Amino acid sequence: MKRSDVNNIIRESDAFIRSYGYVMPPFAYWPPDELKQRVGKDCPMIRDNRLGWDITDYGEGRFDELGLFLFTVRNGSAADLSAGRGMLYAEKIMISRRDQISPMHRHNVKAEDIINRGGGRLVLELFASDAEGGVDPEAEVSVLTDGRKRTLPAGGLLKLDPGESVTLMPGDWHAFWGEGGDVLIGEVSTVNDDLTDNIFREPIGRFSSIEEDVPPLHLLVSDYDRWL
Ligand SMILES: [Fe+2]
Repeated sequence: MKRSDVNNIIRESDAFIRSYGYVMPPFAYWPPDELKQRVGKDCPMIRDNRLGWDITDYGEGRFDELGLFLFTVRNGSAADLSAGRGMLYAEKIMISRRDQISPMHRHNVKAEDIINRGGGRLVLELFASDAEGGVDPEAEVSVLTDGRKRTLPAGGLLKLDPGESVTLMPGDWHAFWGEGGDVLIGEVSTVNDDLTDNIFREPIGRFSSIEEDVPPLHLLVSDYDRWL
């Protein structure tokens, strides 16, 4: 993706998120220089736990069709998770645009609630895991939606209106997209590690490669290793 496109998506997404009354934390708006300075001083957690902007086209260069906007608001640590106490949780705010697909994947560690916070309908395609952890093309899949147990056929489509959510457990295969409009999505989960805990059905990347045509408005988490 071009950096100029990333900058535009940041501006558009910020306006969309604010239109639903959700405001991101102060570090969202620090320019790259300030973020670098603060990470070296009192905010190493932003870099170490990979908080911040995350815009991905899954490395395929077709953001409108295959992509996702994310902002990691908070994220605990694997050490706390192993210890079974402390900051075991994470929160993201995301946008799935209309008909923009987040491809089929599952997590080994993370359980996540995916919440429709407003906009269009959120559609999730769901499969259970087979014995090897792959997509089971036949088995029914059971999930909780706001405490209600739902059982769908393999590849069934779960549609969430604003206010509704689904709990996805490790091993639950899922792809999702917006229907009828762009969707503001909340994610509440266990600790998140996007470097290791996304298993995609098709061989695909998790992050975009960036063509630097203009300076970054804000850094993406995928910029941190190089810039901070
Ligand atoms: Fe997921």
